[in-house]
Formats: sequence, C-alpha cells, structure tokens
Amino acid sequence: MSPRPAVVVLVVGTGTEVGKTWVAERLLRAWRAAGLAAAARKPAQSFAPGDATTDAERLGAASGEGAETVCAPHRWYPVPMAPPMAAEVLGRVPSTLVDLVGEVIWPPLQADIGLVETAGGVRSPQAVDGGAAPGGWLVRRLARRPRTFDRGQTGGSPVFRPRSAQGW
Ligand SMILES: Nc1ncnc2c1ncn2[C@@H]1O[C@H](COP(=O)(O)OP(=O)(O)O)[C@@H](O)[C@H]1O
Ligand SMILES: [Mg+2]
Repeated sequence: MSPRPAVVVLVVGTGTEVGKTWVAERLLRAWRAAGLAAAARKPAQSFAPGDATTDAERLGAASGEGAETVCAPHRWYPVPMAPPMAAEVLGRVPSTLVDLVGEVIWPPLQADIGLVETAGGVRSPQAVDGGAAPGGWLVRRLARRPRTFDRGQTGGSPVFRPRSAQGW
C-alpha cells in the first residue's frame, strides 16, 4: 500500500474560480524548490469541454506528475457541473466518497507533502453522498488532523481557526 505523505494539505474553497488551483500550483512549486518530495491529487474534476487545460494538468505540471496520476481518468468529467451531476449527465456511474478516498493513491515512495484539491466549493457535492465541508467525513479521511487556515480579517495573514470556531 502506498504510504500517505507525512503532511497532507487540502485546498478547498468557497466556490469555483476562487483560486484553489492557482494557490495549489504555487505551493507545489515552492515545496519542490525547497527540496521536498510533493504529490498532488484531485479526486474528481469537472471542466468545460473547450477548456485549454484541466486542474489535473495544471497540478501535475507543478508537482512533476502525470495528469492521470493526479486525477484518475475515469473521474474526468467534461461537463461544467459538480462531479456527481456531471457523471449523471454523461451516463456514467457517479462515485461515492468511499470510492474517491480509495482512489487517492499516493506515490509508492512516501512523499514529504501531499496536496488534494477538491472540486468546487465546500458545499459542492464531490460524490453522490457528500462534499468536502471542513470537519466532514472526506476531509477527516484525507487529512490526519484537520486544521483550517484562511485569510480573514487580518489584512492577508493566514489565520488558524480551531475547529470549534469554524461554524460548520
Ligand atoms: N491570486 C490570483 N492572482 C491572479 N489570478 C488568479 C489568482 N487566483 C486565481 N487566479 C485566476 O483566476 C482563475 C480561476 O482560478 P483557479 O485557481 O482555476 O480557481 P479554482 O481552482 O478555485 O476553480 C484562473 O484564471 C486563475 O489564473
Ligand atoms: Mg481548480
């Protein structure tokens, strides 16, 4: 079994087009420049058929991995809807959260740090049975001890919010 990286960072956002992949690419490049072995995973991705690149391609270019390693080919949905809805429109069997977690396969040599970008926002369904709400099942399965960082009212400094203060 491939070992989970020593640290796993989940990149979730309040919606689509809020900069998740942008931030993820820069984190991955900075970690690798610092000499860390980094890996990126996107459990499922939806996109418009005409999009020039997909998140898996962008993340893979930043982590040094193939796009189909970052996101399994059967979880690529060329319909700009949340993954379970896109699967239904395409006549494909939608995944469950258990499926998605089971398909996050890390590199055989333990990475120092792993990054997972979820689809859409924290309230977007990732699978037929749930999303990526902080403290939710998917987040708890992917990250060992979930912590939340955001850029709140502090003029741009990352803020640590204990789970009790998250309000979800
Ligand atoms: N901090 C930023 N500065 C400039 N452009 C950004 C920034 N964050 C995101 N973008 C641009 O906004 C668009 C959406 O960002 P993206 O990272 O793909 O969002 P998401 O992954 O949340 O859907 C992209 O065209 C990206 O280049
Ligand atoms: Mg993205």
